[in-house]
Amino acid sequence: MTTSFDLSFSPGTVIIGKWNKNEYQVERLLGEGANGKVYLVKRGKKSYALKLGFDTLEHQSEVNALKVLSGSSTSFQQVWIESDDLEWKGTEYPFSVMRYIKGKSLTDFLRDKGLDWTYLIGQHLLRKLVELHASGYAFCDLKAENMRVTEYGEVELIDFGGVTAKGRSVKQFTEVFDRGYWSAGERTACDGYDLFSFAVLLLSVTDRERKFVQAAAMLPQNRSTDVLLDMLKTNRHLSAVEPVLRKALTGRYETSKQALADWRARSRQSSRPVPRPAAMDSWIKVCFAASLVLFAAALYYSFT
Ligand SMILES: Nc1ncnc2c1ncn2[C@@H]1O[C@H](COP(=O)(O)OP(=O)(O)O)[C@@H](O)[C@H]1O
Ligand SMILES: [Mg+2]
Repeated sequence: MTTSFDLSFSPGTVIIGKWNKNEYQVERLLGEGANGKVYLVKRGKKSYALKLGFDTLEHQSEVNALKVLSGSSTSFQQVWIESDDLEWKGTEYPFSVMRYIKGKSLTDFLRDKGLDWTYLIGQHLLRKLVELHASGYAFCDLKAENMRVTEYGEVELIDFGGVTAKGRSVKQFTEVFDRGYWSAGERTACDGYDLFSFAVLLLSVTDRERKFVQAAAMLPQNRSTDVLLDMLKTNRHLSAVEPVLRKALTGRYETSKQALADWRARSRQSSRPVPRPAAMDSWIKVCFAASLVLFAAALYYSFT
């Protein structure tokens, strides 16, 4: 096996697993992170996401998490299809085949649809975390790149490389979303670890004044929860859920279930409109037009 990674595949390339002999045809590159390259592939008529691992140990750790979650009776069921090795020009590379998630990155979604969707997306993301935590695991590497948002604001987590059993040390994280980076707590997998990242993530994606970018670049001695709390206080896009995020940043939630309940209650109170799917808008227009026609018909018959 190798750890160096300059391998890339053009559309049409066929990847054949060394052990299971399944064949996947490459359609395009979906994305790339610190641990792998992910391709959209086809086997028969079905599309999948195929992740080529950069590092065998890291990859195996993700496969272990994928197998556990895939076998659970949660919405993560069947997220993992199979894992195998690819022999390519005399070298072996590990790969995993996963459910392909259509959708956008959180950043692109909010840019295209507007920040009013933040409350709904936050709720869906918390629901995912609650499910994961109830299975005994924490996600640990929560960030925009590790999730996809579907057309109606449903959230799917996609990178399970950081998933860690609760109580164990966090093994994969991204500095700015890590509570250790902000001197706000230990790097131990638990609900609170993910809730902290959740709060920082929302601060970062709603940061229109680029305060977050500046704060993230501060010297270690200047970084603290207070910096994040100050940012939260002046963030008008998160005002309705400010108390929930404050609690998440200061580690005062025992469970994500509680955070979700608070989030729901707070965003319901908010006067902000809950975004309606476009399909619903056109349905309402059709109903309105139909009621006008009926009204006109009623008038016509009552005067004739
Ligand atoms: N199941 C999937 N469906 C759609 N896109 C995916 C999927 N898995 C990964 N991607 C894309 O590939 C990128 C890198 O994948 P990721 O698993 O996060 O790699 P890494 O572990 O190296 O960070 C993601 O940011 C996303 O854009
Ligand atoms: Mg990733």
